Amino acid sequence: MRLSYNLIMKFRLQRQEISKDLFIFCLEQIKKNKIHIPRASKKIVTGLPSILKEIQEKGLPNYLLMKKLKGKLGYGIFLHPEAKPILKGTPIAPYSGKVLLCPQNMENDSDYTFALISDLRLTKEEQSKWDSTRRYHPRRLYALDLDALKRGNFTRFINHSETPNIEACFIHIPANLSGLEPAPFELIYVAKKTIHPGEQLLVCYEGEDKSYWGHKTKPFPMTPKTFRLNQSSIPVPPQRHPRKSH
Ligand SMILES: C[S@@+](CC[C@H](N)C(=O)[O-])C[C@H]1O[C@@H](n2cnc3c(N)ncnc32)[C@H](O)[C@@H]1O
Repeated sequence: MRLSYNLIMKFRLQRQEISKDLFIFCLEQIKKNKIHIPRASKKIVTGLPSILKEIQEKGLPNYLLMKKLKGKLGYGIFLHPEAKPILKGTPIAPYSGKVLLCPQNMENDSDYTFALISDLRLTKEEQSKWDSTRRYHPRRLYALDLDALKRGNFTRFINHSETPNIEACFIHIPANLSGLEPAPFELIYVAKKTIHPGEQLLVCYEGEDKSYWGHKTKPFPMTPKTFRLNQSSIPVPPQRHPRKSH
């Protein structure tokens, strides 16, 4: 219990981290490649500020629980058995981490990386700036990755399923009155369908290229109900003995 609490408190990055230079480069690439990034819904924009506050203060919103699963599955995130259902379209949190520009075919051994934008071609000058250790190659493709290995929040503990109840939405956050800092692109986890009390939060890691599980052992076939929690699976905090009166 203590171990999972420490882990959650270690990972409290509210939103993605990106250097100013890389941010400018990304904006240029989005424009140059005419990449359309859909706008966040009103529900996402208004729902996120309170979630971000909870991440900063407690690591995990009150209605969620982190629990160790069997074997190599590691930890997972669950909706508390006594919480209200989370409805479709409700934001869960930004998948936060460090935004990096990497050669696309480079083996990535981080279990916590999402490819945000792929198939970027860099000019000679851009390659020497962003990839100075490799010789220039005009056909080398690059990807913009989001890595939560060292920095991130509780979303990094959300496991994979072929039948997920969460989807990773690559969207832009427009200027708004909710106090949420706008962003031209961000990866936000959103409920794909109703998440019922006690269910595990699960997302599909695979993009179109099906590269996540390619060089790993096959994923365990989990659904949100596979390890469903009930009230008896929640550890009860130790009770203090009532003081004896003399
Ligand atoms: C983003 S992490 C998820 C959190 C992880 N359980 C932990 O405790 O750090 C991704 C890793 O979790 C494990 N994992 C997630 N979903 C899985 C699944 N369906 N089957 C097997 N392993 C899974 C794999 O080791 C995977 O590389």
